[in-house]
Amino acid sequence: MRKLKIVNVVGARPNFMKIAPIYDEMRAHPAIEPYLLHTGQHYDRAMSELFFNNLGLPEPDCYLGVGSGGHGAQTGKIMIGFEKTMQEIQADLVVVVGDVNSTIACGLVAVKMGIKLAHVEAGLRSFDRTMPEEINRILTDQISDYLFTTEASAKDNLVREGIDAEKIFFVGNVMIDTLLRHREKAAQRTVLEALGVKSGDFALVTLHRPSNVDHKEVFIGLMNALSALSTELPMVFPVHPRTRQRLTEFGLIDTLNACSGLHLVDPLGYQDFLKCMASARLVITDSGGIQEETTALGVPCVTARENTERPITVSEGTNVIVGRDPQRLTDAVRRILRGESKRGRVPTLWDGKAAGRIVNILWQNEGAPDAAAWGTGS
Ligand code: UD1
Repeated sequence: MRKLKIVNVVGARPNFMKIAPIYDEMRAHPAIEPYLLHTGQHYDRAMSELFFNNLGLPEPDCYLGVGSGGHGAQTGKIMIGFEKTMQEIQADLVVVVGDVNSTIACGLVAVKMGIKLAHVEAGLRSFDRTMPEEINRILTDQISDYLFTTEASAKDNLVREGIDAEKIFFVGNVMIDTLLRHREKAAQRTVLEALGVKSGDFALVTLHRPSNVDHKEVFIGLMNALSALSTELPMVFPVHPRTRQRLTEFGLIDTLNACSGLHLVDPLGYQDFLKCMASARLVITDSGGIQEETTALGVPCVTARENTERPITVSEGTNVIVGRDPQRLTDAVRRILRGESKRGRVPTLWDGKAAGRIVNILWQNEGAPDAAAWGTGS
């Protein structure tokens, strides 16, 4: 019997935890042959390899090794490498997740080769086309055959953009599948002791969006607010490589290292980061995924962005959007410290079973004829 060949694409850090549960489900399926392809968009040990180990992902079947570069160069390199690999694999379907450059690059190649495309986390919109991710989302959704969504707003966005409702499947959130699977293991980590902070008594900070860290004035304003707040609440700040470059370029490292309450550390592995998130008094971030993870954990989240493509984290979850204004950030943090945070609830279908739903839908639609053959033993 010929198995259904599915290529699962990862490229950048937030992709790894989304593909992990999908890949696991496919591996357990008797008639699916899953491949794992890493474009190499992220390549540092702390940004990539550590996550593979933490999440129990095997070595990728294919590694394109594209590395960093301008958007055009990076996207182009991924497309060239991916096309070559796909000619060898002869896959039936490609699964891409999220909104990074690897997502659109591999999606475009797949559809042009006549290979079916599934997009996980479809339909999210910030309505801000200056974000590279927004362009990646819109274009990937336009060319996908299967659009798997995490929240109701996503379907509205897709239908408004002319996508056939029959291609849209509300399945829940694969990132939360991973979070729930790793929660217990994460609880046993001793990272708080290593960082010198106490559970419930520190803020966790992540900032890496170009709109925050690439603009000197904006970034300095945010960092000043954080260093002032760190006298009220210790802060742990795992620093993304892009952010580290800017801190150096703008001459901020020494000043920040001198703030005793502000701990700048290297990017953490998945379980250590999860332990920090679950134990934090609050989280300050500009990430997309962390807005969702804090909502699932019930931890207050302050988002330093002008918008969110994940509105359910605000309407139902613990997220507040404060923009890039240091004063609004400071006020929001102080409100939480006074006990005025939102309690929030976990959104529908963020129940740890999203990956199973995705693989079922793909199998029912793409694998059924062979499934009959499998059943008769032919
Ligand atoms: C990418 C995604 C963003 C996601 C983020 C998570 C796009 C357009 N952006 O942004 O949506 O939130 O990943 O981390 O795809 N670098 C290293 N080592 C690495 C990776 C990057 O040093 O392993 C440095 C490089 O100097 C690079 C810079 O970080 O130029 C930015 O990396 P890049 O992959 O271009 O985008 P991110 O900012 O990480």
